[in-house]
Amino acid sequence: MKRRPLLVGNWKMHTTVLDACHLAADIAKTCLGLEDRDVLLAPPFTVLSQVAHMVAETGVLLAAQNVCWEAQGAFTGEISPLMVLDAGGAAAIVGHSERRQIFHEDNVLINKRVRGALAFGLVPILCVGETLDEREGGQTFKIIEEQIRSGLAGVVAADMVETVLAYEPVWAIGTGKTATKEQAQEVHAFIRNLVAGMYEKDVADQIRILYGGSVKPDNIDALMAQDDIDGALVGGAALNAESFERIIHFHKI
Ligand code: PGA
Repeated sequence: MKRRPLLVGNWKMHTTVLDACHLAADIAKTCLGLEDRDVLLAPPFTVLSQVAHMVAETGVLLAAQNVCWEAQGAFTGEISPLMVLDAGGAAAIVGHSERRQIFHEDNVLINKRVRGALAFGLVPILCVGETLDEREGGQTFKIIEEQIRSGLAGVVAADMVETVLAYEPVWAIGTGKTATKEQAQEVHAFIRNLVAGMYEKDVADQIRILYGGSVKPDNIDALMAQDDIDGALVGGAALNAESFERIIHFHKI
């Protein structure tokens, strides 16, 4: 089945208004007329509205880097799905390994975020991935399965087809060490099979599974040539318009 490629730029905790606007404008320019793939930017919350303005009418979509499950209330430091929508966002990254590792977000909390995003019509991008110790200890599939099963608990098939999954091995994020295309494909196929078992094959065939972890202009083509890799979640290389442009315009091999 042909799935529409999705290229996501995760800006993490980078950019103030001026550089965010320049970067967004440069990226938007290169996306004009792109018909066969989706591009999504995840800038910091503080610049979402300005970036939304810069990419208006270009087809580029926006995501928040995290999201709460409540519309409003006493949740200091959180951002609600309504606020994300209001600022022009259409999606939210959830369960990024930096949230899991540095801020100790666990699978239960992450599941609340996934369901919260869906309840308000935001597309959740649920990130999963093993640490180096887990990989070396032969735990990769067990960890991924746990993260997927608990992250998606209570998500019905109709919402699942809208949900995006991202496999991001923790040892490959920001390290310059990409998983080989074979390592990535192996886990992506495992995830798709798992989703087929949890839902139906038809659902698993439709969902997009992104790879993340040191995606660069020189490895994107080989990654995108794998059967179960439907896109990329890009950190460092998404902060430079030229390198992200090359990633967006990956070559089919
Ligand atoms: P990286 O980050 O491309 O800098 O490795 C990816 C991510 O954290 O989503």
